[in-house]
Amino acid sequence: MTAPSTAPAGRPLVRLRHVTKRFGGFTALDDVSLDVNAGEVVVVIGASGSGKSTLCRTINRLETIESGTIEIDGERLPEEGRDLARLRAEVGMVFQSFNLFPHRTVLDNITLAPVRVRRVPRAQAEARARELLERVGLSDQASKRPTQLSGGQQQRVAIARALAMDPKVMLFDEPTSALDPEMITEVLDVIKDLAASGMTMLVVTHEMGFARSVADRVVFMDEGQVVEDAAPEQFFTAPATERARDFLSKVLSH
Ligand SMILES: Nc1ncnc2c1ncn2[C@@H]1O[C@H](COP(=O)(O)OP(=O)(O)O)[C@@H](O)[C@H]1O
Ligand SMILES: [Mg+2]
Repeated sequence: MTAPSTAPAGRPLVRLRHVTKRFGGFTALDDVSLDVNAGEVVVVIGASGSGKSTLCRTINRLETIESGTIEIDGERLPEEGRDLARLRAEVGMVFQSFNLFPHRTVLDNITLAPVRVRRVPRAQAEARARELLERVGLSDQASKRPTQLSGGQQQRVAIARALAMDPKVMLFDEPTSALDPEMITEVLDVIKDLAASGMTMLVVTHEMGFARSVADRVVFMDEGQVVEDAAPEQFFTAPATERARDFLSKVLSH
């Protein structure tokens, strides 16, 4: 069951309808319908194993689906081919593990996809990469390698790398879960700035304070289903379901 969306009007940049994903006999996404509208920040929360990463991965077609439809800005994601590659490039993704190329410089990590996939001239890609590094507070790190950076810095490079493809939507899958506590804020601040700049995003996180302050909507998942889809104030103060109340009592109790 999907609760009605409380989203403000903006065209849906991501639209899932009745999406079901199975791994063998196990249903990881169970009839999920969800919109992420232009300019919105949708925060996805839920227990481990509830299907949050699978949701992100299906939106990017890193996983195929058994049934349902996924549209990116009004275009249905095909199973394969050139249109899939094009639509995929419109969705930027940042993972828990930063997934940078370890032997390349920070600048190379950011320019690689624009140069190879988008055929952006190198000088132009580098100029843009330097702008993005400044935006994430790393202008002085361009020639370093990822291993010379802290986890928080690496994750900010990963964000800059995703932005370099000028995505319409950004997906963040637990972007701070692999970080030492003192580095969480610097990454959340970058994501907050992005949100304030109007970037459309879906963020999977366990950072409840962040969720409450930045989300336009909170989506709560349990056992592969979207159980609640509500404004953060409503979700955190008066969750509609027992499942959400139970989850919140566990994560907010300490
Ligand atoms: N490649 C896979 N093969 C089999 N099961 C998987 C695979 N990926 C995820 N799952 C299962 O799907 C469920 C949801 O996983 P996931 O989306 O990673 O949850 P979350 O991100 O909310 O912790 C889990 O039970 C997980 O074990
Ligand atoms: Mg996950």
